[in-house]
Amino acid sequence: MAHDSAHDSTASAATSEAAGARAPAAAPAPARPARITVPWVRSRKVADGADPLVMVTAYDAPGARIADDAGVDMILVGDSLAMVVLGYDDTLSVTVEEMAHHTAAVARARPAALVVGDLPWMSYHVSVEETVRNAAQLIRAGAQCVKLEGGSKRLTMIEALIDAEIPVMGHLGLTPQSMHAMGGFRVQAKESEAALALVADAKALAHAGCFAIVLEGVPDEVARMVTDAVDVPTIGIGAGPRCDGQVLVYHDLLGLEDRTPAKFVRRYADLKQASVAAVGEFVADVRGGAFPDHSESYHLDSAQAEALSLYGAAPD
Ligand code: KIV
Repeated sequence: MAHDSAHDSTASAATSEAAGARAPAAAPAPARPARITVPWVRSRKVADGADPLVMVTAYDAPGARIADDAGVDMILVGDSLAMVVLGYDDTLSVTVEEMAHHTAAVARARPAALVVGDLPWMSYHVSVEETVRNAAQLIRAGAQCVKLEGGSKRLTMIEALIDAEIPVMGHLGLTPQSMHAMGGFRVQAKESEAALALVADAKALAHAGCFAIVLEGVPDEVARMVTDAVDVPTIGIGAGPRCDGQVLVYHDLLGLEDRTPAKFVRRYADLKQASVAAVGEFVADVRGGAFPDHSESYHLDSAQAEALSLYGAAPD
């Protein structure tokens, strides 16, 4: 796996101290664990000298292995599952059972990265009991924490989850589960009053015990205000560079999607095109008789082939 003590700033600080170098003025950051933990993520503020956190979504074991081998810090089994894997137009249709099914697939890859299970719409809105049971379903499937959308109005549920020892990642700004209330997927907090309300929400989430906060679809300047206002890391998506980390959806960054990407998506590959070309070659090879060839087939030994030939069934 990509995580090892070579990235461990505590280990290198200890080594240079032992060699007689001057001790660093600031307290050393906690060592990067072999498997990423919630307390480690919670400690990663860029203002304190941490490298930005990296999170990517994944929905199955191969995706989790790719993300983990690339060295991400966190794998989010996002409710974007609904759109990028299950073919829905929005995230509202996905259920806790479907989220748990895909969380389990990701967890079976045993990634070093922290596995974050996304609570889908209506799984944390009805009652505290339902919220805790639904979150427990994701934890039992293999998530180490859950993410939920919304600000101060979610505090009761967040406190109940934390009370049940379930770490919570917040999600503010453009919260796709509120698409009808927001009138579509729109950049949020563009006016000063809304920006201040967002900062207040972020402070309330951090105060309630959220260990990190996703900021989605907000102006760069507002993301910076939030990042400066809370002592837990902010993880941006469409929130500019001044967050404590960034997250992208797996299918967006690999170009596996037909959908026109949002402005904030950077495509690092065009796997849709590469995949269509590869499958197209297979189609042509089968239709042209070029697949499978001799080396891709199993064969009888010559004695057996000879024996079968007595009955007129010899291979050609
Ligand atoms: O579901 C998801 O993929 C998300 C990210 C966009 C943060 O919530």
